[in-house]
Amino acid sequence: MTDNSLRTDLFSPTKLGEIELSNRITMAPLTRSRTGEEGIPNELNVTYYVQRVSAGLIISEATNISSQGRGYAMTPGIWTEDQVAGWKKVTDAIHVAGGKIVVQLWHVGRFSHVDLQPNREAPVAPSVIKTTGNVYTHRGIEKSSMPRALRTDEIPDIIEQYRHAAECAKRAGFDGVEIHSANNYLLEQFLRDSTNHRTDQYGGSIENRARLVLEVVKAVTSVWGGGRVGIRLSPVTIEVGNTPLDSNVMATYGYLIQQLNKFKLAYLHFVEGTTGRNRDVPEDIDLDALRSLFDGAYIGNNNYDFEMAISRRAEGKVDAVAFGRPFISNPDLVERLRYGIELVDVNNDAYFGNGAKGYTDWLKANY
Ligand SMILES: Cc1cc2nc3c(=O)[nH]c(=O)nc-3n(C[C@H](O)[C@H](O)[C@H](O)COP(=O)(O)O)c2cc1C
Repeated sequence: MTDNSLRTDLFSPTKLGEIELSNRITMAPLTRSRTGEEGIPNELNVTYYVQRVSAGLIISEATNISSQGRGYAMTPGIWTEDQVAGWKKVTDAIHVAGGKIVVQLWHVGRFSHVDLQPNREAPVAPSVIKTTGNVYTHRGIEKSSMPRALRTDEIPDIIEQYRHAAECAKRAGFDGVEIHSANNYLLEQFLRDSTNHRTDQYGGSIENRARLVLEVVKAVTSVWGGGRVGIRLSPVTIEVGNTPLDSNVMATYGYLIQQLNKFKLAYLHFVEGTTGRNRDVPEDIDLDALRSLFDGAYIGNNNYDFEMAISRRAEGKVDAVAFGRPFISNPDLVERLRYGIELVDVNNDAYFGNGAKGYTDWLKANY
């Protein structure tokens, strides 16, 4: 039988900061919308994550840090005690099975709908610029609502939401947290000048636009230390809904990454290209050069196949690779890659909110 571990060290143990991994194949964060309205992880979620435990690291689905941070129905949260207890069942089961799991901390910013917000208030954003994107409410797909701009004196509360969620994550037994600063959600809305037109200390210059994410990193690392905190960025992702690139991607993200070095984070995680769509990068942008500004470990993601993962690892371009969609339909992805077993394709119908169907009913291969 083929054993691809002889061709690559992707199947060998490594460390991302203080997090020890049994291999370099990680599971990318995947929203699956199988959690109830209260955002409390359930037994089905436990089964789903445990099925994927052979990933060197599981990065959980994006998890709301507050009721204000929520933009999609049936997604989990990490701000109430019941949510902590629900997640504890997941992390305990993962640890018993020998795996590692971090939680992705999420605030959607303007990608929300008044139906999902406390008291039907407007979603919050750096500036009053509406996304043309869709969100999922209890009624199905809806256009996102017009946001309101956060006042300067409300920013400390946003940072506190992240800090509180980080504390909850610790009590929930996670191995660390990933700060979701990608895919055009709140932190990236502040970072990009296309979505941040503020005139206070959180808008204008690169230093000002990077301020919120750096203050969030400071708050989260005050709970966890740097070595168990990762961050996800998507410098060139043009997501659905009116989120153009920053006018100077290299300067803005370069500044941010250099500042992040101060926190000695566990890892930097890039979506290379436009999330889930393609690996295209504008000519004047060099993601490998940006990544090399970071002193710590690096996870690469987006449209990787096994051969690309092997070659980028062999070139020293990545420390680990995150696979997203392949983990949906191949719970035993690590073993399949290792033994050269054909992968099962997934189609979009399985992605969101259909109970066990398309979620926990993918079969393992024989090996
Ligand atoms: C169903 C689905 C849900 C996703 N949910 C998240 C998420 O919660 N957080 C996140 O940062 N990215 C999310 N993504 C993006 C993936 O993490 C990943 O970047 C993307 O699928 C590209 O990787 P792949 O080609 O290996 O699938 C999602 C993608 C899909 C298909």
